[in-house]
Amino acid sequence: MSIIEIKNLTKSFLQGNNKINILNELNLVVPLASKIGIVGQSGSGKSTFLSLMSGLDKPDHGQILVNNNDITKMSEEALTEFRAKNLSIVFQQYHLVAHLTALENVMLPLEILDHNLSKKSIKDKAIELLNEVGLEKRLSHFPSQLSGGESQRVAIARALITTPKVILADEPSGNLDLETGTRVMNLFMTIIDKYQITTLLVTHNPELASLCQSVYKLNHGKFEKIK
Ligand SMILES: Nc1ncnc2c1ncn2[C@@H]1O[C@H](COP(=O)(O)OP(=O)(O)OP(=O)(O)O)[C@@H](O)[C@H]1O
Ligand SMILES: [Mg+2]
Repeated sequence: MSIIEIKNLTKSFLQGNNKINILNELNLVVPLASKIGIVGQSGSGKSTFLSLMSGLDKPDHGQILVNNNDITKMSEEALTEFRAKNLSIVFQQYHLVAHLTALENVMLPLEILDHNLSKKSIKDKAIELLNEVGLEKRLSHFPSQLSGGESQRVAIARALITTPKVILADEPSGNLDLETGTRVMNLFMTIIDKYQITTLLVTHNPELASLCQSVYKLNHGKFEKIK
């Protein structure tokens, strides 16, 4: 069973008078609960692809079906709700909120969502996830007081708190030293497997790509299956 189907996805940017095609009639089917690695040279369009997947940018044409809903056709409002309920993003640069503690950062996505959970249960869930990533002693640290690896683990816990169906990750270990990156990413992969979350993982790290069921190389605007 597939959760994501991408059909003829095309995206270009205008560079002066020149139209540069970054993604060119791209197709992809992603099976439910699978981990898909995406590799490709710098500038090949990996981040562009993820921003279309997250609905933050629109394609020239093509479809992105998530559970049979075409996110390219949704209104801003519908998309915001859809994203909050179904998608989480983990970036290379963590993007933690500077004036919130680690615990508050993790609680935030669930507090924004429309639901009837009490503050206490959100807090308990955030603490549980921070425990899971080994940060139970860092709950009240602010982002400036965390190391790179700790910050990324907070970002991972934050991505998980809404129990998303899909996680989009853009070079999540890119800012960490090899050893820390590998440790944090192994943890990330274990948690993803545990919660059966479908994951699209952009990475330059071959070891990380090898942990995925399938790996696609973005080349001249198309996906080439290399694993
Ligand atoms: N808003 C924009 N306007 C014009 N060109 C853009 C824009 N965003 C991206 N590009 C171009 O699109 C191409 C793909 O960029 P993208 O960031 O997707 O590459 P990438 O594969 O993620 O590279 P990296 O591995 O370095 O992160 C680049 O040549 C970039 O200059
Ligand atoms: Mg990129």
